[in-house]
Amino acid sequence: MRLPNILVLHGPNLNLLGQREPGVYGDSTLADINRVLEDDARRLNVRLSALQSNHEGVLVDKIHDARDTHDGILINAGAYTHTSVALRDAIAAVNLPTVEVHLSNIYRREAFRHHSYIAPVAIGQISGFGPDSYRLGLHALVNYLQRSQPDS
Ligand code: DQA
Repeated sequence: MRLPNILVLHGPNLNLLGQREPGVYGDSTLADINRVLEDDARRLNVRLSALQSNHEGVLVDKIHDARDTHDGILINAGAYTHTSVALRDAIAAVNLPTVEVHLSNIYRREAFRHHSYIAPVAIGQISGFGPDSYRLGLHALVNYLQRSQPDS
């Protein structure tokens, strides 16, 4: 029996969390968020690997690679959420269950953040709970995988 393997993807500028607009994104660093997710993954009995990139093509390649190695994707695509047909198409192509997360509530912010290219190809979206958005998203994804593959 193989443990479910989750890919966590962080998009552009999220490497600056902790310094970047703390009034909007809070004080946690990306390392803090990944550490909490790794602890949660251990408790949930899943494997987890995380990647941050400021480059759209790197994220696209990683999604393609996940096809053969991972069971689900947790993604904060950052600004690419609102611009990237390529990321949307990559998620649709690999057909892995994907949960979209955002630290801030994108619907309380500028109008250009209200549209997500990822949302129509995600099983769901969690937005506005700071680092807890990732934790809630991980729990939701693991629950979804357990429901859809009860014997794995
Ligand atoms: C974000 C929201 C996006 O609009 C923004 O471009 C980000 C971060 C969030 O986590 O709240 O980079 O995805």
